[in-house]
Amino acid sequence: MTGSPEDGTSSETGPSSSETLLFGGELAYDQGWNRHHDSWLKLGPKTMALSLPRQVRVAIRLAHRADRRALYAVAVSEAGRGLAQAAALVTVNALLAELLAPGAVEERLRSALPSMAAVGLLAVIGSVLASVSAAATGILEPKTQRVATERYLALVARVELEAVEDDAFHRLMDSAQYGADSARRMVVSCAAVVTAAISLIAAGGVLVVLHWTLLPLLAAMAAPRAWSALAMARHRYVSWHRFVQHVRAAQMISRLLIDQQAAGEVRVHGVGPFLLKHFRGMAETSEREQTRLAKAGMRITLGADTAAGLAALATYGALGLLLWHGQTELAVAGTAVLAIRTGSAGITDLVVRVTDVQSEALFVADLEKLCEEAARRAIPATGQALAERVEEIRFEKVTFTYPGADAPSLHEVDLVIPRGRTVALVGPNGSGKSTLVKLLSGLRLPDSGQVLWGEVSTAEADRAQVFDRVAMVAQDFYRWPFTARVNIGIGRPAAPMDDEAIAPAAAYAGTDDIVKGLPRGLDTLLARGYQGGQDLSGGQWQKVGLSRARHRDGQVLIVDEPTSALDPAAEQQVFDRIHRLAGAGRTTVLITHRLHSVREADYIYVLDRGEVAEHGTFAQLMDPATGTGAFRDAYELQARQFRSPSLPGQPGPETVETPAGGPATA
Ligand SMILES: Nc1ncnc2c1ncn2[C@@H]1O[C@H](COP(=O)(O)OP(=O)(O)O)[C@@H](O)[C@H]1O
Ligand SMILES: [Mg+2]
Repeated sequence: MTGSPEDGTSSETGPSSSETLLFGGELAYDQGWNRHHDSWLKLGPKTMALSLPRQVRVAIRLAHRADRRALYAVAVSEAGRGLAQAAALVTVNALLAELLAPGAVEERLRSALPSMAAVGLLAVIGSVLASVSAAATGILEPKTQRVATERYLALVARVELEAVEDDAFHRLMDSAQYGADSARRMVVSCAAVVTAAISLIAAGGVLVVLHWTLLPLLAAMAAPRAWSALAMARHRYVSWHRFVQHVRAAQMISRLLIDQQAAGEVRVHGVGPFLLKHFRGMAETSEREQTRLAKAGMRITLGADTAAGLAALATYGALGLLLWHGQTELAVAGTAVLAIRTGSAGITDLVVRVTDVQSEALFVADLEKLCEEAARRAIPATGQALAERVEEIRFEKVTFTYPGADAPSLHEVDLVIPRGRTVALVGPNGSGKSTLVKLLSGLRLPDSGQVLWGEVSTAEADRAQVFDRVAMVAQDFYRWPFTARVNIGIGRPAAPMDDEAIAPAAAYAGTDDIVKGLPRGLDTLLARGYQGGQDLSGGQWQKVGLSRARHRDGQVLIVDEPTSALDPAAEQQVFDRIHRLAGAGRTTVLITHRLHSVREADYIYVLDRGEVAEHGTFAQLMDPATGTGAFRDAYELQARQFRSPSLPGQPGPETVETPAGGPATA
């Protein structure tokens, strides 16, 4: 660490001390950027020119997909503009020749009239084409961005859960997000490259026709400006890499300062001034980099302008000499001046635009890579069909280790879930219950062994069919920042979400009572921080989650700790309802640590450290003759906790919690 964490200062390079303290080093989300860093800088002008067509093709392909007609309009109008410029130069030459020809002024003016009209007309055509191109680009830009974004989002939404948790994939997603924006900008830059190239060719062609010596002079004039454009683009790029991390870190801190969830601690713990100090620390680092950039820019521009000035002097000197020696006429010299000005502006523009295309192309390439990778890691869209009626779901020696984990979370698990039954999974925290249901629902695939839906294993099944049959209230089910209606209806997103469709599901888990208390009923937005937005308590959210699963109406209902945030009365209701549903031919997998509520399950599996410790019916597990005691001991421990008087003179929750008639009280 270079600066002290107290003042948030930093050295010229590397992470600032604020970053080191807060993030343990440089906050480098996106190695994607840095990967380009060197590769781009190594690119010489030649490589750049050679790789250009490929990158342009990518952008054009996207634009073509987005709006073909707009793309053609841009191409035609930009090409037309370049041609109009070339024609204008030739016409100006004719005009000057007529004006400077010997004879009476009146005579000369009259003969020049058609050329004058032509120059005027070409100017009008040029500006009409420019506005057509601007309009078409305006239409094309957002569409191209949308097409690029939609394409990668659709692919990313289909990847295996494993990819979502993979760091490398995440980094790719991080930098690829900029690719869609880059594709949009690339379309504009490509159009500009076309114009610049055509006007350059036009100017060059005219100069060669006028006098061949003028062409190298044009190059001499344009070279310094082109060089400075290239040098500045590189500087900006390097600089950008250097300060983008600081800018992002500062942005992250500023977001934390206004974050709702942090708001309490920001005030009570006085976190505000601490964060502000580091915000300044990081902002200052990027400001320093920008100052450095501004100074470098000044030096480069100054140098280039001096060189360009000298070249201009030489050019006009040469023109003067040509005139002096009668090698050229005044009219030709006049056109040459115009052509040189157009041409040198064209070269500078071309270099700037090509550099733009080049740097945007890096991000577009990332986007392409993400799409390839997402397609590679997608959940297969095909597979074996499941039987119409799956009689049982069976785990056979299933072992599963999370990527990057040392030990397996499930080890050789055997388990059977018969159709239409309620199977309960119990066990301490971290014993693998949630992991087991992820494998059951096809979200994860076993490393060894198999999860069979009837005869078909999840690894070979058409996974869409597996998902289709599952309704799940995961432990960490998602709280969508949408209305209550959508939060229930999203269980079956393609089905209608009108009151009639939602009401039974809402009533099922007692969400209807919550909805009644909301200001806009089902249409209340369940996200704080938005106008009219409301938040629910943890227990209320659980009811919403259950309603969602009910609305989904899958053949296999999986509920993972559905009552952890519910009060005892509500908990009992929820379990009663789950059991009632199970009666109607629905298979239910119930995970809970409230052992009292698994008495009604048809079968119980006790997990411990990823293995099945024991299994049986409630009676079997409680019976010392058949059970190992693991379940019984845990059950009795829970029952005892509720029976012990917590507060003297108060009835306590045991009226609800103690299993009436259960073995503990028997
Ligand atoms: N996404 C994950 N990546 C790595 N390890 C995980 C992940 N999810 C859970 N684990 C680990 O797997 C084990 C089982 O977790 P889990 O199935 O959630 O247990 P339970 O639901 O029984 O509390 C735990 O050791 C946990 O740390
Ligand atoms: Mg769990």
